Order: sequence, then structure tokens, then C-alpha cells
Amino acid sequence: MSLSDDLDRIRADARAALAAATDSGQVEGLRHDLLGRSGRLTALLRQLGEVPADERPALGRLANEVRAEIEAGVRERQAALSVDDLEERLASETIDMSAPGRPVPIGHLHPVQTLMRDLRETFHAFGFEVFEGPEIETDEYNFELLNIPADHPARDLWDTLFVAEPGSVEAGEPKPARDGTILRTHTSPVQLRAMLALDAPIRVLAPGRCFRYEAVDASHGSEFFQLEGLVVDRDTSLADLKGMLEEIARALYGRDVRTRFRPGYYPFTEPSVAFDIGCLVCGGVGCPACKRSGWMTILGAGMVHPTVLRNGGFDPAEYQGYAFGMGPDRMAMLRHGIGDIRLFFSADTRFSSQFAEGR
Ligand code: PHE
Repeated sequence: MSLSDDLDRIRADARAALAAATDSGQVEGLRHDLLGRSGRLTALLRQLGEVPADERPALGRLANEVRAEIEAGVRERQAALSVDDLEERLASETIDMSAPGRPVPIGHLHPVQTLMRDLRETFHAFGFEVFEGPEIETDEYNFELLNIPADHPARDLWDTLFVAEPGSVEAGEPKPARDGTILRTHTSPVQLRAMLALDAPIRVLAPGRCFRYEAVDASHGSEFFQLEGLVVDRDTSLADLKGMLEEIARALYGRDVRTRFRPGYYPFTEPSVAFDIGCLVCGGVGCPACKRSGWMTILGAGMVHPTVLRNGGFDPAEYQGYAFGMGPDRMAMLRHGIGDIRLFFSADTRFSSQFAEGR
């Protein structure tokens, strides 16, 4: 095979490869393979010295021609490719200034929080202020001071989650903390914290999370909210409590809401009542959410027990008061027709995104 054939083949290969190259890296590689120090063309040029003298000038010319063509081809291809790159980049970076902005998702309140805020507003109109207490409580505040002594059967009403005695879990034998630290089973301990901190007249609202060792079902969770109210004054009666609760129910659920008071029992109120609302999930016919009774208990209430007033530093001969504890989870279920309390803690956005109107 002659040198001139080789040169022709290199020229043809170079043309084809240049045409097929799609980025500047490939073109640079090609240039290196052909014209570099150990490139194909460079190797051929070295052989020129061994060619018979009469053929040398013609072959030399051909070789120069091929080299010049490849160099020019490389330059052209590089230029063309960089224009392509630029056009592509410009196309991808084009911004349509007339397009509407993309909304930034900012989240919203949970329906239970929205309801608690609404309640707070309504109670604010009645002169109540927010007073908060801790979620991790002591046996003393959660029970003792509320007239529920250690062995009183009423403790069964509040299935308690205890904080473990330090070290007892590690030792494989969990025991309730010796200092009586528990997770509060209701917000009523805040009644005592408020009485011991404030002077009469007292009108406070204590919202917060509570915990119970419950068998979880459609209407019971082991973690839930309460909204406690406490009034201590010189001239309060059960009639004040009734009138106010009916007003609150209308404010929340509309003027047509059905309500009823039932006698109840709590060791820290006397007399005690339960306040029910006609079930708005089923319209009063009976469903799992209202345990098929047609009514939903949304709060317990009563006149503050004289012992509790005394524990809070008030003379029951001079002061009376009423207290109530609402269940915002159930109230939110009634408001939105939600049939299962477990949805509130499900973290399922198909559920929670339906309440995006929450402020
Ligand atoms: N703490 C009671 C409960 O958890 C509710 C309640 C509060 C009752 C205040 C009377 C007065 O069931």
C-alpha cells in the first residue's frame, strides 16, 4: 500500500469523523489522534524521508494539503459546535417574563389549632386570658390538688402515662418516677397553677396537649387537646356557666345547634355537668363518631369544688368559681364532619390539605 493511499484514507476518515462529532471534546480528541505527536498523520510524515527522492515533492504537497484540511476542518467544527452549544444554552435559559409566578407552598394550620384559635377569640370577648401550664406535670397538680387522692377510684377516669424513674428502663424494670412526674391527663392542673399565681377575679383559658393511656378508636386518641376554662369570683353561679357555654356553642356551630346539659361527676367540681352537642356528623341519627347516641360530649364542667378553691388559696365562703374542660379534637370533628379522630394524627396530607383555609 502506498503512502498516498494512506494519506487519502486519513483524509476520508477525518472528514467522516469530524462530521459525526457532536461536542468539542470529541473534535479535540480527533485532532490529537491525527495531528498530535504520535498521531496517524504525524507518523506518516516521518516516513516521507524514506520515500524515493523523485516521489517526495508530490507526496510532501499532498501531506501538507491533508494536514491543512484537517486543521481547518477541526477549527470549523469547533466553531460550529460552540455556536450550537450557545444556542442550546440560550434556549434553556430563556425566561418568559409574562408567565405568572409559581406559588410558594407555605403550609397552614391544623384544623384543631384553627378551632382552638376561634375559641380563644370567642372567649376573649367574655374577658378570658390565656394561661398555660406544662405538659409534663406532677401527680400533685394533676390529681392531689384537684381533690383526687392517691387511692381514689376516680383515678380510673384518667388512664395515666407515667414518666419512668431514672435508670429503671435501662435496668429492664420500668417504674413510675418516684417524684410523681407524669404526662398530664387533662388541663385541669392549670386551674391550680392559675389560682396560686393570680388574684381574683380570675378568668383564664388554658389550651394544651394532654395524654392518656387509651385504647385508641374513632373517638379516642392517646394524645389530644383540651381547652380549660376557669373563673373565680365573688358572685358566680352555674347559671353563668350554662349561659356562656350555650353562647360559645352557637358562636362555633351556628344558632341552630342543639345542646344539652347532663349531670356529670368530677372530683374537682360540685355540682358537675357534661355538655353535649347534637352530633353534626350524622345529624343526630347515630354514627361511630357519636357512639350511635346522636350526641357528642364536647366538655365537662362544674362549680369549682370548695376543697380545690382552698388548695388554690381562696376561701370558699367568699369565692365561687366554675371550670370547664373542652375537647377541641372532637369539636373540630363536629365542625368539619370528620368521622375518625385518628386522622388528626395521621400526618396524611390528603386529609390535612383539605383545611388549607386555616389561618
Ligand atoms: N378535666 C376533665 C376531664 O379531663 C374535664 C373538666 C374540666 C371537668 C374542668 C370539669 C371541670 O375530663
